[in-house]
Order: sequence, then structure tokens, then C-alpha cells
Amino acid sequence: MKKIPVIIDCDPGHDDALMLMLAFGSGVFDIKAVTTSAGNQTQDKTLANTLKILSLIGANVPVYRGAETPLFRNLVIDENVHGESGLHGVEFIEATLQAENQTAVEGIATIISESKEKITIVPTGPLTNIAAFLLAFPNLKNRIERISLMGGGIFRGNMTPLAEFNIYADPEAASIVFKSGIPITMCGLDVTHKAVVYQKDIDLFRAIGNKSGQAAAGFLEFYSVFYRENRVELEGGAALHDPCAIAWLINPDMFTSKFCYVEVETKGELTSGATVVDFYNVLNRKPNAEVCYDIKRDEFIEMLAAAIKNLP
Ligand code: BDR
Ligand code: CA
Repeated sequence: MKKIPVIIDCDPGHDDALMLMLAFGSGVFDIKAVTTSAGNQTQDKTLANTLKILSLIGANVPVYRGAETPLFRNLVIDENVHGESGLHGVEFIEATLQAENQTAVEGIATIISESKEKITIVPTGPLTNIAAFLLAFPNLKNRIERISLMGGGIFRGNMTPLAEFNIYADPEAASIVFKSGIPITMCGLDVTHKAVVYQKDIDLFRAIGNKSGQAAAGFLEFYSVFYRENRVELEGGAALHDPCAIAWLINPDMFTSKFCYVEVETKGELTSGATVVDFYNVLNRKPNAEVCYDIKRDEFIEMLAAAIKNLP
């Protein structure tokens, strides 16, 4: 089967780490590059974590350093979920890969302009790099096949009652992306809070017996603590947000979704960073995103386990 050419933009982050394992282990993608966003931690740390995870899973692709801060706002990080390093839970991973000299925006532009086929972009952190790229290279927009992202929510937030972290961290960037006209798949909190990983799944990943499975289990054991303490309605599970954006590209039939018109609130006193999703089409505007809101959880876990098995 022909591989899907993608660029991944992420901020590892525990669920970003699992997303990279799924992307590389699935065998479905031709991964042109990984770029890093500042989000779960500072740019220094998310870049270092990306290099470590890719080294651990034996992935040799160009890695480009992204923006240090959101487009117009101060950096917000998510240390209480992901720890001081951004990837707490596994003692020591040596990075054998190095970042390229070009920036993320330059790297994305080079890859897209040199590619004969359209490229899909998979962002799983704040959308700063992607918006900066779209502003700097508007002529390359039509070379993007789709953006499959983790962010937002139809009816809920996790940073404020209505704003999800990735959108909250850089709402202006998110607004540029949602207004771009590029086909978008949005995996927000509605679906990611159903893509839950339980202790039995963590044990399954560890039992695979390879170092990627061990690392996945270590990451998820740390990550689950926040969810057990703060999201009790998930009944001991942890929401595995970021792998959803990759899983949809592998098998969209695993998801339930609806085409909706989505805008990002950039000004609201109570609602800054909220995705305003016209789920019932009350505005009667042309949908700009396929919004996912349910997932076949057991298939999702099987997909992750199968990918981890293929890694070192
Ligand atoms: C998003 O924020 C981060 O904590 C996760 O990596 C995910 O991308 C969920 O709101
Ligand atoms: Ca993330």
C-alpha cells in the first residue's frame, strides 16, 4: 500500500511520544520530518524529548526546531501533566539524532516545495509553527493535502471550561489554521477523552517486551497519575489525546465524526482559546473541519500495541 507522506509537528509530551510510536510503528506513513512546538514544555525541552524518542524507536528523519513562543502571547506550558522535563517517567534515553540547522518553517517549506505529492501535516501541539508557515509561504498552501490535528473540543475544555490546551496556548495561530481553507480533521477532547488507556493496556504494552513497549508503559504510568487524580470520570484511565490525530489517518472508520464549521475564539474574556464548533449547523456556513467525537477504543489500543510491536 502506498505510504501517506506526512510532516509531524509535536511537543512531547507523553501522549505525543505515543503518537510518534504509532506513526513510525504503523508502517503506514512516509514521514518526511518531525518539527517541534513549544507547548507541554519549552522549545528546548520538547526538541530534546523528540530527539530522544526518535532515537529510542530507531527513527531516522530530519527534525526541525520550531518557534520559542506563541505568535503574540507568552508561553504557557503544561508542567503539571507532563512533569519538569515534559517527558517524566522513563529514567534515561540517549539521543543519537541531531536537529537540522534550518527552522521548522524553513524545513516544512523545503519539503513541501520539493515534494511531487501533496503532504499531510499532523500537529499535536500548539499551532504556532503551522500558522507561521502558512503566513510565510501562502503559495505552498495548496500543496498541503490535509491537516489532521489534536486540539479543541466541541463542548468542553481542559485549560479553561471551554479551551483545550493546544488551542488555548496559541489561539491566533489556531485561528489562522482553521481559516486556511485546507481540509482539517479535528480530534478534540470529545474524542480523546474516549481514547482512554487503562492500567491493563499499559501492562499489555510493557508485556510486548521490547524497549519501546517498556518506555511506553513508563511514560503512561507517570501520565496516568494526573488523570486518576483530576479526571475521575475516566475511571482510572488516561486520555491518550495525540495518537488520535495519527490513528484517524490510518483508519478513519474507527472514528465517529461530523463535518462542522469551526472558528477559534481569540478575544473572549471567559472563552479565549475555545474552538466554537457549529455542531448543529445553526449558522448554515460551509464546514471547514471534520470533527471527531467518538472512537472504537479497543481497536485503538490494538492499533497502538501492533505499532509498538514493530519498533525496537
Ligand atoms: C493536549 O495538550 C497536551 O497536554 C497533550 O500533549 C495534548 O496535545 C491535550 O489537551
Ligand atoms: Ca501534544
